[in-house]
Amino acid sequence: MKRTRVIEALNKDKKVERIMVKGWVRTKRDAKEFSFIELNDGSCLKNIQIIIDQNQDCREDLKLISTGAAVSIEGALVQSPGKGQKWEIHAARIELIGEADQNAYPLQKKRHSDEFLRTIAHLRPRTNKYGALFRIRSESAFKVHSYFREKGFFNLHTPIITGSDCEGAGELFRVTTLPAGKTKQNEKQNISENDFFGKEANLTVSGQLEAELFACALDRVYTFGPTFRAENSNTPRHAAEFWMIEPEMAFADLTDNMDLAEDLIKNMTIHVMENCKDDLELFGKFVDKKLMRDLEIIAEKEYVRLPYQKAVEILQSSNKKFEFPVAFGTDFQTEHERFLCENHFKKPVFVFDYPKSIKPFYMRLNDDNSTVGAMDLLVPRVGELIGGSRREERLNILEHRIKEAGMKKETYWWYLDIRRFGSTPHAGFGLGFERFLMMITGVSNIRDVIPFPRTPRHLEF
Ligand code: 4AD
Ligand code: MG
Repeated sequence: MKRTRVIEALNKDKKVERIMVKGWVRTKRDAKEFSFIELNDGSCLKNIQIIIDQNQDCREDLKLISTGAAVSIEGALVQSPGKGQKWEIHAARIELIGEADQNAYPLQKKRHSDEFLRTIAHLRPRTNKYGALFRIRSESAFKVHSYFREKGFFNLHTPIITGSDCEGAGELFRVTTLPAGKTKQNEKQNISENDFFGKEANLTVSGQLEAELFACALDRVYTFGPTFRAENSNTPRHAAEFWMIEPEMAFADLTDNMDLAEDLIKNMTIHVMENCKDDLELFGKFVDKKLMRDLEIIAEKEYVRLPYQKAVEILQSSNKKFEFPVAFGTDFQTEHERFLCENHFKKPVFVFDYPKSIKPFYMRLNDDNSTVGAMDLLVPRVGELIGGSRREERLNILEHRIKEAGMKKETYWWYLDIRRFGSTPHAGFGLGFERFLMMITGVSNIRDVIPFPRTPRHLEF
């Protein structure tokens, strides 16, 4: 018999004589003559209730079925008299597929702490919360691709192994095939020559530089891939491996960039609200009661666009005591970012035109010679969700900026070529996918929105 998934069974509009479902037992309860199983197969948040007459010839199997076991059930799908569910299955045949030892299976309680579940990341998707989260993650990723496709952007696969450092922040993971222990600093030069690529190689921190090259040929491209940063910051918002969405547009300026970012976030938010209702409701009920109200603001309100200088003034004249004081030229901390969007404006805020001293070499120098065409999008709960800019398209200024940053222009000859041949204004940004998921679910730790988190001193799985 062909299997029906629980989501389809629950959405039937009339009773079915015989149906087969397969899944994992969430709970089993034995009453006098009947046993009740709550079955979940991951297709949706809801379980389907199975009722089993103990006088059937399945008693032996039934004894071995307990929380966590994998089972197959055949029976009639009938209207349920119980509250909160339309359908239930009256089992005619049950089969134990995979047992789960009750003394060892760790997911016995109704609720477990996030910290505990992190230690069993291979099992946590079997809980309501993490099942919901990873369905939302999947649906959000789907929307990224469909959004850009609708807008005429081409998907670009940028390299994972690179020979450059896009952000110039030196937070690189080295890639090497040399035996461990032979990479002492003073021997680095010679050793790299003997390495796989004959030069130093790293895991990418961003696909931007390569995306720029393709935007200056295909006009509009985006990447959506893993990025790696060896930042030794153990915060709830940083992971060493995270996924980033990076669109890049030719013939575009900072206003076009902000327009695209705002439209993308609104579309992704609305898509999740419309397509993940049950899953999202769980977060609104159990994780953060203000979540749905905030998501409506993100989906509907116009975002603030605020020059960095003005943002500094607002922070300085606020009565709030910050741990890190603010002045022109300081980078904002999460406390400042959250103050602006959560307390002051109460909606998402773009801060733009940052001092050049705190931003990477590729951002376009403004006429004031001291700021660059940068933009960060700050959102409630998370702070910085997006970082982007208009790119420096003028060859001589870019060469100067590369030198200023202490980088070698020879390494970036291909990047400079784009400014030599048919250079054009262009702009793009990077959206941290996990930060988006934190915003949309209210989950406050990045470790809980990525299937297998990588953070300092943590590499399980
Ligand atoms: O602001 P960032 O560093 O910008 C770039 O990498 C640009 N090259 C992007 C571009 O213009 N194409 O990173 C972009 C976003 C941040 O706003 C944040 O959401 C996320 O990536 N991000 C991280 N997310 C999780 N863990 C980390 N360690 C992150 N670092 C950045
Ligand atoms: Mg940034």
